[in-house]
Amino acid sequence: MSEGRKRLHPAAAILVVLGVGLAVVGLLVFGPLSGRDGPGPAPGPGQAPGPGASPGPTGGGAPRSEMSALAQRGRELFNIRGCTTCHTVDGSPGIGPSLLGVWGSERRLADGTVVVADAAYVRESIVDPMAKIVEGFLPSMTSYAWLGEEDIEALTAYIEWLGD
Ligand code: HEC
Repeated sequence: MSEGRKRLHPAAAILVVLGVGLAVVGLLVFGPLSGRDGPGPAPGPGQAPGPGASPGPTGGGAPRSEMSALAQRGRELFNIRGCTTCHTVDGSPGIGPSLLGVWGSERRLADGTVVVADAAYVRESIVDPMAKIVEGFLPSMTSYAWLGEEDIEALTAYIEWLGD
């Protein structure tokens, strides 16, 4: 009786045959194809960014929402004042966190607390960056309080715009 138990169950045998068959078909179909194109996709010279890619630091693509004059001024300042050295606005982290979607979101700080990035938080992040350190980042930002009230408001408006 132990003989019978060793034998493959008919259904399992069919599955094995199917599996082997699929593998052979796969080799036949995809083997020659990939052979013709050479190994791996060619890293074309100027790989065009996809249609959904970031339109670049100064925008140019369709904005997510109407941008106020103040926010536009903030965007200029963001570039002129060198915020882009450490911050992207496309979601990819740099030396500092990307500022895309920060506004209104919960920020986990290095000390374990969680705060909501409201106007007061963003303002403090600019004038007193050491007060709250975002988890995963080094406290490497210096105060931009010297920019003055108007510029800080403009930058805050820009970061708000990046939030939605
Ligand atoms: C030398 C690099 C550097 C520059 C330049 C810099 N930052 Fe930062 N910034 C950081 C780092 C690192 C953090 C995260 C650590 C922290 O909280 O201080 C941060 C945090 C922030 C935050 C909080 C982000 C969050 O995820 O909660 C804001 C807002 C911000 N920066 C705005 C600015 C603005 C506006 C400028 C330009 C006026 C600027 N930063 C310039 C490095 C920089």
